[in-house]
Amino acid sequence: MEAFVADLLSRMTREEKLGQLQQVQGTNGHVADHLADAVRRGAVGSIINEVDPATIRSLQWIARHESRLGIPLLIGRDVIHGFHTVFPIPLGQAATWNPQAVEQAARLAAEEATAVGINWTFAPMLDVGRDARWGRVAEGYGEDPYLIGEMGAAAVRGFQTDDPTRPDALAACAKHFMGYGASEAGKDYNSTNIPPHELRNVHLPPFRAAVDAGVLTVMTSFSDVDGIPATANATLLRDILRDDLGFDGLVVSDWDAVPQLTTHGLTADDREAALAAAQAGVDMEMASRTYAHHLPALLAEGLVDDATIDAMVRHILRVKVRLGLFDRPLVDPAAVPPSGAPATLAAARDVARDSLVLLRNAHALLPLDLTSLRSVALVGALADDPWEQLGTWIFDGRTDHAVTVREALAARLGDAVTLRYERGHTHPRARDREGHAAAVAAAAAADVAVLVLGEDAILSGEAHCRADVSLPGDQRALIADVVATGTPVVVVIMAGRALALEGALDGVAAVLYAWHPGVMGGAAIVDVLCGDASPSGRLPVSLPRVTGQVPLYYAHKRTGKPATPETIVHESTITGRVPQLSVGNTSFHLDVHPTPLFPFGYGLSYTRFAYEQLRVSHHTLRRGESLTVAVDLLNTGDRAGTEVVQLYLNDPVASLTRPVRELRRFARVALAPGARQTVTFTLTESDLAFSNRHHRRTAEAGVFHLWVGGDATAELHASFTLVD
Ligand code: NOJ
Repeated sequence: MEAFVADLLSRMTREEKLGQLQQVQGTNGHVADHLADAVRRGAVGSIINEVDPATIRSLQWIARHESRLGIPLLIGRDVIHGFHTVFPIPLGQAATWNPQAVEQAARLAAEEATAVGINWTFAPMLDVGRDARWGRVAEGYGEDPYLIGEMGAAAVRGFQTDDPTRPDALAACAKHFMGYGASEAGKDYNSTNIPPHELRNVHLPPFRAAVDAGVLTVMTSFSDVDGIPATANATLLRDILRDDLGFDGLVVSDWDAVPQLTTHGLTADDREAALAAAQAGVDMEMASRTYAHHLPALLAEGLVDDATIDAMVRHILRVKVRLGLFDRPLVDPAAVPPSGAPATLAAARDVARDSLVLLRNAHALLPLDLTSLRSVALVGALADDPWEQLGTWIFDGRTDHAVTVREALAARLGDAVTLRYERGHTHPRARDREGHAAAVAAAAAADVAVLVLGEDAILSGEAHCRADVSLPGDQRALIADVVATGTPVVVVIMAGRALALEGALDGVAAVLYAWHPGVMGGAAIVDVLCGDASPSGRLPVSLPRVTGQVPLYYAHKRTGKPATPETIVHESTITGRVPQLSVGNTSFHLDVHPTPLFPFGYGLSYTRFAYEQLRVSHHTLRRGESLTVAVDLLNTGDRAGTEVVQLYLNDPVASLTRPVRELRRFARVALAPGARQTVTFTLTESDLAFSNRHHRRTAEAGVFHLWVGGDATAELHASFTLVD
């Protein structure tokens, strides 16, 4: 391959090389003359946002057969959680804790997208989502670097397969490198403040996992990292990505991120911006054209050298070769299969079902007892909106085959049970109370009320951030009024983030968190509500009580004054005038309990699990050797169910302070009622390693603690010592 690339490079003119560095927008379902000319001249390396198969075929034909060197085009599109068939949002996919499900969702998305000629997607997003205000948490895999890495690697495998030359393989793009998730105040595109060790220990690991999984491309972040926007940040793009991770594929800027270097205040104009991005290691420019306009002069002036340009082009050509684009058959517009293949829809239903997190189930209200129920009231605009349940980033998503909760519930209940549907509001953000009274009346008259509430799609995703992440609109009052009827209440939450729900769920018997569950979301939710499946999703994010707690994540540092049950005080319990030092003096807020409402990793099923006999194979671990952790898992309930067994580690004394615990392994285990299974995990030195003050990944000798259980508060504990 390298010889092929070198040979091609040796035959390219400067113009043709610079052409490879440019990604341009498609012209919406036809080949505009100027675009055809540019492709023919070799002035375009990639097209973004063209999805018409005949147009893609023509563009690719021109590139391959009418340009001098016949270099194929990368055809990029944001295929984020499905192409035509929309799967749960990535945050929901993360809640499956099932990498195979993520891989399958990506595979099926790739099949649909490649069928129209797309060969590059801008996914997975590997940013660490610890601030629920940030709308892009919907597009990521939650708060934990290890879980994000496992899911991201699975997505890469699904998109690319182990043979990316396959005609149905899509190049994946690990984005956004790096630190975008730390956007201050959860406001998109905002600056970040990330200590250097935190950058490497928190934000980098998911990218390492994606590079190890063979991701072909990486996208820069819009954000400013330590005073240098990521798109001009050579520490990120050269020292860390190329040198430390060994990535040799293509780095693309985010949309217009190169000229935005000037808006950031790093460069004076487009010319300086092009110079800064090229020097920092951005190979391809998305949308904007500062490279095309300014690199020729910068080369002529000697400010950029040919070797730099050659390296950039090499990265791009490598990806084209790795994807087999020089030999890939051109797409046949007549052979594009119709969307909505039954197997794909069935997979979308399975993934959605696995993504549902049961947070509460008082008096075993769920699954609904269909033998005794006579009437169900279904409430909420999101219960019957095929579009909103798809969530953010669904440019090509289709609603034709969508199944809403209302449709699925009506079909499942049949004639034996009366189903009355009331929207309750025009949309979840509404404050008009239109429909409120009718919804409450319907609930009062029913045996059970199912409320499908939360956020519509527009409230999350890129540039869609919220300063207050509680339930929007008037929904809290709607819940309270329905609860007041005395009818047992089930709340299903659809949302693109972790909502702050303290107080909102008072009196609600059962709560099912459904994220934005995609095209088959309604069917999946009804499968769980009616007991055709036991819920097995687990939270990939801590659910805050109130917005003021965010950023909130379980893997926080210990601090010098950790909150303890003895020291925390609620302001409402402080009477009169008290001396300053008489309350607390540890790390907590006076107006909210310091824990999340539900912890990371949490989720119930319709059965119960018990953990017994945690044991480690050795009490000392020598470098280069491994250690086995085993635990017995029991299904102590009377239904089959799936538990997600989680292993957390802590390095209590280290040369840099370390998080109180960090997820290091997990396994989904399905068990029949009464069954017992031993679950084992193997740990090695590299699982203990972190990037130290000198930015070297190292495991430091000493004691390590581990916990195994069903969420981040797991108490079953063991320890061992790493010895030199
Ligand atoms: C901007 C977004 O930040 C990025 O994630 C996306 O892939 C590009 N636009 C292309 O649409």
